[in-house]
Amino acid sequence: MPTRARCFVPASVLTLAIVLPATAQHPPAHPFPAAKPERLAAAGTAARGAQLVMLGGCHDCHTPKNQDGSIDFSKSFMGHPENAPLAPQVVGGVSTNMLLTAWRGPWGVTLARNLTPDKETGIGSWTLADFKKTIRTGVNPKGEAIRPPMPIANLQNLPESDIEAIFRHLVTLKPIRNNVGRVEGGKAGGNGGT
Ligand code: HEC
Repeated sequence: MPTRARCFVPASVLTLAIVLPATAQHPPAHPFPAAKPERLAAAGTAARGAQLVMLGGCHDCHTPKNQDGSIDFSKSFMGHPENAPLAPQVVGGVSTNMLLTAWRGPWGVTLARNLTPDKETGIGSWTLADFKKTIRTGVNPKGEAIRPPMPIANLQNLPESDIEAIFRHLVTLKPIRNNVGRVEGGKAGGNGGT
């Protein structure tokens, strides 16, 4: 046993000696700027809504991504861009597209909606009551049931002031005309092909 132990230790040290300098020369790139912690905004305000949409990860699906996967904030909340590719078919799995705006799963094909205040293609004609009802019930003003991966279950029991804050923030955004559409029954069509 002692002989084996003596052989093992030098071998590990040798491996580390080779690996460590290589890692030190190529530190992983740091993709994020330095953090600038914000002060807690007042309950129910658009400023608090801006903080809540960050916490809620809404951009993860409702805003297209850059090539490197970062969020393209110049397109905040435009939803799945008209005619962008949909998610590929993956047998036995759930898939998304490169922008994380289109999804495909056992529930069918879903596209993250336009939440900007554009009157025709976004939520510009919604009232606060419409927005609250949609989040609380998972059914939008058109009577459409909201499907996965929209996290209605995570949001539907939020305090009134949080839902109000999110809506007040969304309506301050730059309106973007983008007719996302809706794919029914799992069949891709009308929006970008398969
Ligand atoms: C994991 C992806 C994902 C995340 C995260 C997400 N959403 Fe969604 N959202 C969707 C998808 C997909 C739809 C469309 C579902 C459908 O067509 O049935 C949707 C639909 C909606 C709708 C309904 C819009 C309409 O016109 O009917 C609202 C409102 C909404 N999301 C708000 C939010 C808010 C606010 C957040 C953050 C707190 C959020 N979403 C986070 C994917 C997401």
